[in-house]
Amino acid sequence: MAQDETFVPEKGYTDYITNLDGLRGRIVAAIPLEPRMRVLDAAAGPAWFSAELAKRDPTLKIVAIDASERMVKAAERRIREKWLDSSIATMKMDATLLDFQPSTFSLVTNFSGLNRVHMTHGAQGVRQSIHEAARVLKSRGYMCFAIIPPEEAETIAQRLECETYSYACGLTWLPAIKYQEYLRGAGFSLVKRGTFYTGKKLGASQARQHLESTIEKVKSIEVGARPLDEVWKRYGAEIENEGLGHFSRVVLMIARKNA
Ligand SMILES: C[S@@+](CC[C@H](N)C(=O)[O-])C[C@H]1O[C@@H](n2cnc3c(N)ncnc32)[C@H](O)[C@@H]1O
Repeated sequence: MAQDETFVPEKGYTDYITNLDGLRGRIVAAIPLEPRMRVLDAAAGPAWFSAELAKRDPTLKIVAIDASERMVKAAERRIREKWLDSSIATMKMDATLLDFQPSTFSLVTNFSGLNRVHMTHGAQGVRQSIHEAARVLKSRGYMCFAIIPPEEAETIAQRLECETYSYACGLTWLPAIKYQEYLRGAGFSLVKRGTFYTGKKLGASQARQHLESTIEKVKSIEVGARPLDEVWKRYGAEIENEGLGHFSRVVLMIARKNA
């Protein structure tokens, strides 16, 4: 059920941006895990989601991959700091071209990476990364990913989240039906989907800050981005009134490889 969204308090910005009010942990709790499973966490960034998986079950053998060297280094630092070295290994790798043998993993996860894959490789890259997940999964293995389908936005702030980042730098979420089509094409059946809410949204100054830092990060990996002023000219007034969603409503898709 949809919730009312409240603004993230001014002093709570950094904590919300990194922890998302425990959203990753709640999503991990909904994923089918078994002891000692081999898990590939794709587009892992600084290993936030990987760490939640390891916290939930320290026997999991997780490989966290990211296309960015800088992110892999950040993930390694985090994993050391949290004493998670025995659960999580890191590798620099593109989710659209996995350097693993077929049938290596029992679970592939992707928390909020498929919009980034879209930014760097377009919709075909998203399709390709789902096909690659199918290839490296064992028979009857699971692929679980978290997305923000724009057509399902329940509040203006959630709609603005999808529109502004797509306009600013091509960080684009596809309609849910498109991911389902790619899953079917790769030999998966969708077994479950769930909707998760944080009940929070960013205020205008937090939204500006986050947009600015996203635009800068994207430029550092040589992806085209519009200047913040251009984005604000188009969406600023609405954001001032409504706030900006930030993982406020997330859909988890749990799919199983057919054979
Ligand atoms: C939103 S961030 C990380 C999210 C992370 N899973 C978490 O727990 O919050 C998305 C990551 O995707 C990575 N990325 C973008 N395109 C990629 C690709 N083609 N293959 C692997 N990683 C990719 C980026 O470098 C970035 O670190």
